[in-house]
Amino acid sequence: MPNHPALEITDLRKTYATGVQALKGVSLTVAPGDFYALLGPNGAGKSTLIGVVSSLVNKTSGDVKVFGIDLHAHRSEAMRQIGLVPQEINFNMFEQPFDICVNYAGFYGIPRAEAEKRAEEELKKAQLWDKARTMSRTLSGGMKRRLMIARAMMTRPKLLILDEPTAGVDIEIRRGMWKTLKEVNAAGTTVILTTHYLEEAENLCRNLAIIDRGRIIEQGPMRSLLAKLDVEGFLLDIDGDLPATLPAIPGATLMAENPHTLDVEMPREMDLNRVFAALGEAGIRVRSMRTKSNRLEELFVRLTGQPEAAAKGAAA
Ligand SMILES: Nc1ncnc2c1ncn2[C@@H]1O[C@H](COP(=O)(O)OP(=O)(O)O)[C@@H](O)[C@H]1O
Ligand SMILES: [Mg+2]
Repeated sequence: MPNHPALEITDLRKTYATGVQALKGVSLTVAPGDFYALLGPNGAGKSTLIGVVSSLVNKTSGDVKVFGIDLHAHRSEAMRQIGLVPQEINFNMFEQPFDICVNYAGFYGIPRAEAEKRAEEELKKAQLWDKARTMSRTLSGGMKRRLMIARAMMTRPKLLILDEPTAGVDIEIRRGMWKTLKEVNAAGTTVILTTHYLEEAENLCRNLAIIDRGRIIEQGPMRSLLAKLDVEGFLLDIDGDLPATLPAIPGATLMAENPHTLDVEMPREMDLNRVFAALGEAGIRVRSMRTKSNRLEELFVRLTGQPEAAAKGAAA
């Protein structure tokens, strides 16, 4: 099955029995080998989406394909491609990491000798080999989280899905996780994670979707999103009235906020003097200038759910 997307979601909808519409028609495609983030605030629908893909939540409608395999029609075959790391640590604290990995493989019908070989390999990759025979309860927070990844990798999934792997952990642990995940991805596994940290998506992912209230509001390469966000906005107060036709300034976007106020958006690296010069030539005299918050800040605020910015975003 060459060239199938690792994950292809089409118009996915989920309405819970309570009436909450957690997913309102989500479509996205993740290429094989990609490192993909689903970024969004609490309640956006990330866990619901992950739940549907990992067969823990029943969809209301829509299609999910994993490496071209329809999740609905061929559930167990599709599931065999996936490794899941849930947000909550859910292994038995009184078992040893080695046994946790071996027993997990056992559920998936992997013979014991093979499982033991893999457990050694995965625990070494997760830098836990020296802890393989200690009680899991004694592991540090970071080690426990790396053990979750090692366990998920026991079945050699082609697609590793992590739901907020670093939520609420300190920066040291987060960096350790990032390193492990980058190595997993570099070794060929497609990785999808959900996060509400833009910084995490920025550090790890090549592509992302931003999800908010059950809908995807942005989607594409991380780099182009950051470039798009790297725009500054100004409000210029003008002497007299603006002309009916505003001058064209290459690279900048001009809009009349009202007859006396000009809204200018331009790339951060662009020289503001060029804008002033062009305006001067068009007979527009700037009296004063205010900075608008940039779109990155707006995105942050929107993602963290502050009502003022959310209203602004909705109006824009
Ligand atoms: N089992 C459930 N029953 C009813 N509503 C749910 C359930 N799980 C989640 N929700 C609701 O669905 C919405 C999306 O939640 P969730 O997918 O957990 O978002 P996220 O993971 O992005 O925080 C929220 O409004 C949440 O309250
Ligand atoms: Mg969640």
